[in-house]
Amino acid sequence: MSKNIKIAVYPGSFDPFTNGHIDIVERALKIFDQVIVAILNNPSKKALFTVEERVEMIKKSFNNGENVTVDAFDGLLVDYARMQNATAVIRGMRAISDFESEFQMALMNRRLCREVQTIFLMTGLRWIFTSSSIIKEAAQFGGDITGMVPVFVKQKLKEKFPKMKE
Ligand code: PNS
Repeated sequence: MSKNIKIAVYPGSFDPFTNGHIDIVERALKIFDQVIVAILNNPSKKALFTVEERVEMIKKSFNNGENVTVDAFDGLLVDYARMQNATAVIRGMRAISDFESEFQMALMNRRLCREVQTIFLMTGLRWIFTSSSIIKEAAQFGGDITGMVPVFVKQKLKEKFPKMKE
């Protein structure tokens, strides 16, 4: 791969991937040639979807577009980013409540590795209140989450939560 290609890693749990996440990837693609959506494989954190299910859902969101790849990683994010020749880590920023923990993580990552920069992208206003957790909670108790996640993610949520509104 050419040295001039600018690669960013967009890490997260993505349990599940939402339209807010898609928005961030699309913004990142305006700056970077390639975005790697990297799912943290964390066996100690109980997830609703397996890593394989999440990889599949994210791949479908981008119709196998060449400039977005999907992967899973474990261990330190900065080690993974270096291994992928990425120069940046992308994180979405919604409200000020995100700031404290994101700032802490960015500074720790900078301390661990000075070559990888963290770039915060502001999510679109329509996604400001959404998160994977709140969407799962609404779905679990029968709420309608249409338009907040891609159609196939909604179908997968329906399989897990049959009470969910179609
Ligand atoms: O979607 P999330 O759960 O907020 O994503 C958090 C994630 C995966 C970005 C973060 O937990 C992470 O990078 N974990 C890997 C271990 C690591 O490098 N931690 C940061 C420095 S200690």
